[in-house]
Amino acid sequence: MKILVLYWSYTDNTEAVAKTIYDTVKEEGYRCDIFKIEDDLKVDWFSYDLLFVGSPVYEFLPPKSVMKYMQDKFHYYRDEKGYLKPSSPKLKDKFAVVFCTYAGPHTGIHEAIPAIKYVEQFFEHLGFFIIEPITVVGSFRAEKLDGKFGRKKEQWEKMNKFGRLGDITGRPNDNDLSEVKNKTIGIINTIKTLLM
Ligand SMILES: Cc1cc2nc3c(=O)[nH]c(=O)nc-3n(C[C@H](O)[C@H](O)[C@H](O)COP(=O)(O)O)c2cc1C
Repeated sequence: MKILVLYWSYTDNTEAVAKTIYDTVKEEGYRCDIFKIEDDLKVDWFSYDLLFVGSPVYEFLPPKSVMKYMQDKFHYYRDEKGYLKPSSPKLKDKFAVVFCTYAGPHTGIHEAIPAIKYVEQFFEHLGFFIIEPITVVGSFRAEKLDGKFGRKKEQWEKMNKFGRLGDITGRPNDNDLSEVKNKTIGIINTIKTLLM
């Protein structure tokens, strides 16, 4: 089984999750590549059996650069390769897992769901089997975000402390990342049984 981890991250929360998935997959003895999503990223999704695709949540969706990457790849597979078929028949050995980090300051997990569903749809359209997503709480990194997106450090810190998920300062923490590790092992176990 060949595995790919694709991710985008601005303040490094999603990167920490992506690297944990990558390290776990390698420890389990599988071949794995990891790439950060950029405009000119050329990696072929179809040369892997299992893809982990992750991003932060920005206004209930992935950030614009991630949406553009997904759309460009999808249009390439649809228009140049002819891979989009009516009814999207399932490919027997292609799997996708979407992961995200989110702060949930206003409505909690509900903020992450549209972002996850959005990314999953590209893969489901192309015939990938969609496995349960991995959601991880990721705090606003107030130092780095100070003055960005129209908010000061104190405002970001307040969102970390008084949101719907309680005090999320410093997350993802070691517990969060060890949960990611466990879930990654669980996903690999699931796929092994599906491939038997
Ligand atoms: C501009 C911006 C918008 C955000 N919007 C949301 C949101 O709508 N819902 C949410 O749950 N988290 C939101 N977040 C929090 C991020 O999703 C969270 O901190 C994430 O872990 C950041 O990932 P990164 O460190 O990989 O960039 C937002 C963060 C920023 C900077």
